[in-house]
Order: sequence, then structure tokens, then C-alpha cells
Amino acid sequence: MNSSFLLITFIIIIVLKCISTQSTINEECSLVNRLMSIDEVYNCCREDKITCSNDGHITKLHASSDYMKSSYYFIPPEIDILTNLKDLNLLGNGLIGSIPPELGNLTNLEYLRLFNTNLTGSIPLELGNLINLEYLEIDSNKLTGSIPSELGNLSELGYLVIAKNHLTGSIPSSLGNLTKLKDLGIFNTNLTGTIPPEFGNLINLEYLNLCNNKLTGPISQEIGKLVNLKKLYLFNNEFTGSIPKEIGTILKLKTLDISLNKLNGLILPELGNLSDLEYLDLSNNNLTGSIPPELGKLTKLKTLELSNNNLSGSIPKEIKKLNIKLNK
Ligand SMILES: *[C@@H]1O[C@H](CO)[C@@H](O)[C@H](O)[C@H]1NC(C)=O
Ligand SMILES: *[C@@H]1O[C@H](CO)[C@@H](O)[C@H](O)[C@H]1NC(C)=O
Ligand SMILES: *[C@@H]1O[C@H](CO)[C@@H](O)[C@H](O)[C@H]1NC(C)=O
Ligand SMILES: *[C@@H]1O[C@H](CO)[C@@H](O)[C@H](O)[C@H]1NC(C)=O
Ligand SMILES: *[C@@H]1O[C@H](CO)[C@@H](O)[C@H](O)[C@H]1NC(C)=O
Ligand SMILES: *[C@@H]1O[C@H](CO)[C@@H](O)[C@H](O)[C@H]1NC(C)=O
Ligand SMILES: *[C@@H]1O[C@H](CO)[C@@H](O)[C@H](O)[C@H]1NC(C)=O
Ligand SMILES: *[C@@H]1O[C@H](CO)[C@@H](O)[C@H](O)[C@H]1NC(C)=O
Repeated sequence: MNSSFLLITFIIIIVLKCISTQSTINEECSLVNRLMSIDEVYNCCREDKITCSNDGHITKLHASSDYMKSSYYFIPPEIDILTNLKDLNLLGNGLIGSIPPELGNLTNLEYLRLFNTNLTGSIPLELGNLINLEYLEIDSNKLTGSIPSELGNLSELGYLVIAKNHLTGSIPSSLGNLTKLKDLGIFNTNLTGTIPPEFGNLINLEYLNLCNNKLTGPISQEIGKLVNLKKLYLFNNEFTGSIPKEIGTILKLKTLDISLNKLNGLILPELGNLSDLEYLDLSNNNLTGSIPPELGKLTKLKTLELSNNNLSGSIPKEIKKLNIKLNK
């Protein structure tokens, strides 16, 4: 075969490849420029809130109404042309409209944060397709509807926060499959129902926050399986029954706040085993009986809140010895 023919073919292939890469870059930038109301001809890869790969695809996009020309913006359904996107962080109350289901096509996403926005509508179940997601935060929006059980398919998630939205329904039990989770926050959302017993599978959890909801039922003894928990916030719900003694086996706990519920029964001496505890709030329940002297073993305790219960007896001398602020 003629070698100059080969060379020409090779050059044509290179040129075509450059043109097609160029056109996807232009397409991607033009979408992002529209989103951020930037001049169309601008090379968006030069923006410091945007990162592009060597071959020119957008991999990171951080946008906020604070530094945009327009006071509002929305997520266009065409966002799914950004197929290489790994990191999407959209902030500011200028973000309006709903979350398009097409966001679920961005299967390379590892980080997704929608924070302090005016987003309305529901959380699309298509977000459950983002199988590479490690971080998902949907915080302070005006979203309605329920948490889609499909989020239980995001098996790489280490961080999940869904907070300060007007959601309804209960916490899907499928979230109990997210065994890589270290941080799980579902708070200020007015959710109902119980804590799924499947949460006992989340053995890597270090932080669990379910405060300010309308959760009911007893605090399941499964909670005792979460041996890596350092912070547990269950305050301001409608939990009933007694404090499960299994909480006394979560030896890494530093913060335990189960105040403002409808718990009854005794303050268990097992809580005295939590030797790392710094903050213990059991106030505003209906706990009875006397304060167990075993709490005096909690030498790292800085705050002990027991007020507005139905406790009897006096404060044990072991507790008086602790250098703490005590509200009974
Ligand atoms: C977003 O919500 C805030 C208060 O909730 C409001 O003041 C602001 O005007 C809203 N922004 C837009 C662009 O609608
Ligand atoms: C993108 O998402 C939409 C809505 O979820 C869906 O209808 C469409 O088929 C998806 N496109 C691709 C290429 O996956
Ligand atoms: C995702 O989760 C839903 C509901 O939890 C389930 O029905 C579906 O089969 C899952 N899809 C995949 C691809 O795992
Ligand atoms: C939760 O419900 C209370 C009233 O029951 C309401 O005042 C509050 O705004 C609701 N919170 C959210 C985040 O929807
Ligand atoms: C959790 O995952 C298992 C297998 O991975 C699946 O069979 C089960 O349906 C899932 N549970 C829920 C509640 O989605
Ligand atoms: C926890 O505390 C209880 C009561 O104070 C005690 O009987 C028990 O042996 C302790 N358990 C461990 C594992 O230290
Ligand atoms: C507290 O519990 C007692 C029984 O242990 C019950 O009689 C009383 O009604 C409860 N109080 C509240 C405010 O729930
Ligand atoms: C305190 O407990 C006693 C005995 O269980 C009960 O009779 C009483 O109603 C309780 N008080 C309140 C305010 O709940």
C-alpha cells in the first residue's frame, strides 16, 4: 500500500478527531455558559469554578448565584451532555426550578451537592442511577414528596445528607443497604414512620442525625450494632418506649442527644459504660426513676441535660463530683 496514502488517512483521522472533540467542548461550554449566564464565546475551562480534563471535557462544575451575572439560574435537562462530570456543586437561593431526572444520566458523578437553593418539586428517583456517587447532599431546598427508595442503590455513598426540605413519607429501608456510609443525616424534614431496622447494617456510620422529624416507634435495639458511631442525634421526634440498653455498647459515642421525645422508663446504668461521652441530653422526655450513680463514670462529660422528665430522688454524689453543667 502507498505510504503517502496512509499518512494522509492518518492526518485526516487526527483532524476529524480534533474537530469532534472541539465540537463537544464547545457544546459543553455553551451549555455551562448559559447556565452561568457567561458570554457564549468564553472558554469555560478557564473559569476557576470549572475544571476540564486534558481532552477538554468538563469534569467539575461549581456554580452559585452569588457570583453569577443573573440573580437566578436553573438546571437545564440538557445537563446530561456533560458525561464526564464528576463533581457538581450548585449553591445559592438563586437556583430555582426542579431537579431534572436527566441528572441521573451523569453516571460518572462522584460528588453532588445542592445546597441552600430554592429548588422545588421532588427528588427524582433517577438519582438512584448515579452508581459512582460517593457524596450526596441535598440541603435547604424547598423540595416536596418522599425520599426515593432508589437512593438505596448508591452503594458507593459515604456521605448522605437530606435536610431542611418539606418532605413527606418515611425513611426508605433500602438506605440500610448503603454500608459504606460514614455520615448519614436526614433532619429537619418532618418525615414520619420508624427508623428502619435495616439501619443496623450501617456499621461504618460515625455520624447519624435524624433530628427534627416526626419519627415514631421505639428506638430499635439494632442501634447497638452501630459500633463506630461518635455522634447520635435523635432529638425532637416522637419516639416512645424506653432507651434501649444496647446504646450502652456504642463505646465510641461522644455525643448522644435524644431529648424532646416521648421516651419513658429508666435512665439505664449501661449509659455509664460510654466512657468517651462528652454530651448527653435526655431532657424533655418522660423518664422515671432515679439518676443512676454509674453516670459518675463519665469523666469526659461536659454537658448532662436531664430536665423536664419525671425523675425522682437526688443527684448522686458520683455525678456531683464531675465537672459539668447539669440541668435536672
Ligand atoms: C429564594 O428564596 C428566598 C427566601 O426563601 C427569597 O428571598 C428569594 O427571592 C428566592 N430567590 C429566587 C430567585 O426566587
Ligand atoms: C436521560 O434521562 C432521561 C430521563 O430520565 C431518559 O429519558 C433518557 O433516556 C436518558 N438518556 C440517556 C442517554 O440515558
Ligand atoms: C434500585 O432500587 C429500586 C428500589 O429500591 C429497585 O426496585 C431497583 O431494582 C434497583 N435498581 C437497580 C439497578 O439496582
Ligand atoms: C414541619 O412541620 C411544622 C409543623 O408541624 C412546620 O412548622 C415546619 O415548618 C415543618 N418543617 C418543614 C421543614 O417542613
Ligand atoms: C438491599 O440489597 C439486597 C441485595 O443487594 C437486595 O436484595 C434488597 O432488595 C435490598 N434491600 C432493599 C430494601 O432495597
Ligand atoms: C455496662 O454497664 C452495666 C451496668 O452498669 C454492667 O453490668 C456491664 O457489665 C457493663 N458492660 C460492659 C461491657 O462494660
Ligand atoms: C409519663 O408516663 C406515665 C407512666 O409512666 C404516664 O402516666 C404519663 O401520662 C406520662 N406523661 C406524659 C407527659 O407522657
Ligand atoms: C410521672 O410518673 C408517675 C408515675 O409513673 C405518673 O403517675 C405521672 O403521671 C408522671 N407525671 C408526668 C408529668 O408525666
